[in-house]
Amino acid sequence: QTCILYGAPMDSGKRRRGCLMGPDAYRTAGLAEALQGLGHRVEDRGNVGPAAFTPAPHARLHALEETIAWTTALADAAERGLQEGVPIFMGGDHALALGTVLGAMRHADAEGRPLFVLWLDAHSDFHTPATTDTGNLHGTPLGYVTGRPDFDGFPAIGTPLPQENIAIIGLRSVDSAERAALQETTIQRVDMREIDETGIARPLARFLDRVTAANGMLHVSLDVDFLDPSVAPAVGTTVPGGATIREAHLVMEMLHDSGLMTSLDLVELNPFLDERGRTAQVMVDLAASALGRRVFDRPTRAY
Ligand code: ARG
Ligand code: MN
Ligand code: MN
Ligand code: MN
Repeated sequence: QTCILYGAPMDSGKRRRGCLMGPDAYRTAGLAEALQGLGHRVEDRGNVGPAAFTPAPHARLHALEETIAWTTALADAAERGLQEGVPIFMGGDHALALGTVLGAMRHADAEGRPLFVLWLDAHSDFHTPATTDTGNLHGTPLGYVTGRPDFDGFPAIGTPLPQENIAIIGLRSVDSAERAALQETTIQRVDMREIDETGIARPLARFLDRVTAANGMLHVSLDVDFLDPSVAPAVGTTVPGGATIREAHLVMEMLHDSGLMTSLDLVELNPFLDERGRTAQVMVDLAASALGRRVFDRPTRAY
């Protein structure tokens, strides 16, 4: 495969700064080399930057204009990258998915195939600019791409992503407005309780089977806080009780076995909060698993 790396040093999706250092941390931790070592062609296209914007003060929303400018630029990058290979976005905070998912929607539309989105996250990121309590737009991308209201000034999304094409795995911090809205949807919501009760493979396999049946494209958005903070401390929004390294690798290995993943975001890494690069390294190792690193080949699916 051809892996196309894009740096997305977007830091406007929340107030605590540091995610702008993410792309260089991934480069330092050897993401390109890890993927090359698996036999892939890897191109690092350097960093994307926001389109021109004029900041304006807002009572509630943080850095709205900058976030819109990034959304425009990243949607273009994702759409172009998907024409040439598997784009991998080295974030940057999760607001970058406002753009990358939009670009993937445009690409899938042009291909005449449905897009599916796998959201690996402690949070549901299902707010709208009107419902967010914090004003941090990294909490809104799934609201945006599903066509929720009040995204004034953002690129028009065309046909919204169908709710049933989305799975969120790892949930353990959902705001009350998100919870009320989510419960009205058909989004597959997998919280930590379900993972504890059934294991992580079963709900993931259920989702992947639906992608396969629809001949879908699959965008995967991996938030550092999907992982437990004890193994991934470099994130501003830690929530205890997260996925283990082993659960996360299993997800990535199943993604590779499925052959379904067409684009990937690595988001919310804040190297300013890291301990000797360990979180960056975990994220690189997870990306490698998603692109084929394994201990042994498995002839059949064991679940
Ligand atoms: N729900 C909270 C908020 O709206 C947290 C969102 C965290 N999102 C993230 N991408 N880490 O602020
Ligand atoms: Mn294509
Ligand atoms: Mn997130
Ligand atoms: Mn999160």
